[in-house]
Amino acid sequence: MTNVGDIPEALPGALRDARHVCVLTGAGASAESGVPTFREAQDGLWSRYSPQQLATPEAFMADPGLIWRWYRWRRKLVAAAEPNPGHYALAELAKRLSRLTLITQNVDNLHQRAGSKDVIEFHGNLFVDRCFTEGTIAVGDDTQAVPKCPQCGGLLRPGVVWFGETIPEAALDESCKAAVDCDVFLSVGTSSEVYPAAGLAELAAESTALLVEINPKPTGSTVFDISIAAKSGIILPKLLELLDD
Ligand code: OAD
Repeated sequence: MTNVGDIPEALPGALRDARHVCVLTGAGASAESGVPTFREAQDGLWSRYSPQQLATPEAFMADPGLIWRWYRWRRKLVAAAEPNPGHYALAELAKRLSRLTLITQNVDNLHQRAGSKDVIEFHGNLFVDRCFTEGTIAVGDDTQAVPKCPQCGGLLRPGVVWFGETIPEAALDESCKAAVDCDVFLSVGTSSEVYPAAGLAELAAESTALLVEINPKPTGSTVFDISIAAKSGIILPKLLELLDD
């Protein structure tokens, strides 16, 4: 069922009565903060770059300086962005509902800046550095074109998941458990094209969960019971308001 811009009557009650709500966000949840999404060609981040050229371990090994320049550009862009009403609404929903698990594909730290706690960072975090050799989190000298690991002297890399890399085990495990256990699965601002993140909704669909997506554009996914064709920064605050009705 697609609701253009409005919230089905049953949804606030379903959220209120849910024992466990699982939320998965994608780049669309940060779009109203001015952070470009990945696949919206007219302003997508990748319209300027080829993803294979930049977001892979091979690209990093070929030219770590180029990769650091791109990620430092992205860090600056994202650090200048502010959480939007959708981020704040999710942080507030977590306080108001019995249990809310927030999984994000985004690496922009905006959920945390909006006050969300225990965010499951499915694709890592843009503002964390890791040792390229050991994978451990480390803090390097940011004045270096390619920062070095203080422990082993190897290269540091941004702590995000690149193409061809596996999802951090704990994040994947916790996310799958939440998807299986939840009574409502809310997908916000994702094209549902990238696995295994996109598979979480399918996991939830195998149980008795109510599946809801919020996205102004139709996605390729067919598992959702409710699709709200609207912006998350509009709908999520409205949902919060309706909780009390
Ligand atoms: P996409 O760029 O694929 O999809 C963003 C979705 O957000 C699109 O379907 C838009 O229609 C929707 N959208 C745009 N503005 C919105 C708004 N205001 N409110 C709600 N939705 C809105 O980004 P993701 O689905 O997040 O992975 O992409 C998934 C992964 O693909 C990313 O995490 C990234 C990429 O590979 C890694 O970096 C590992």
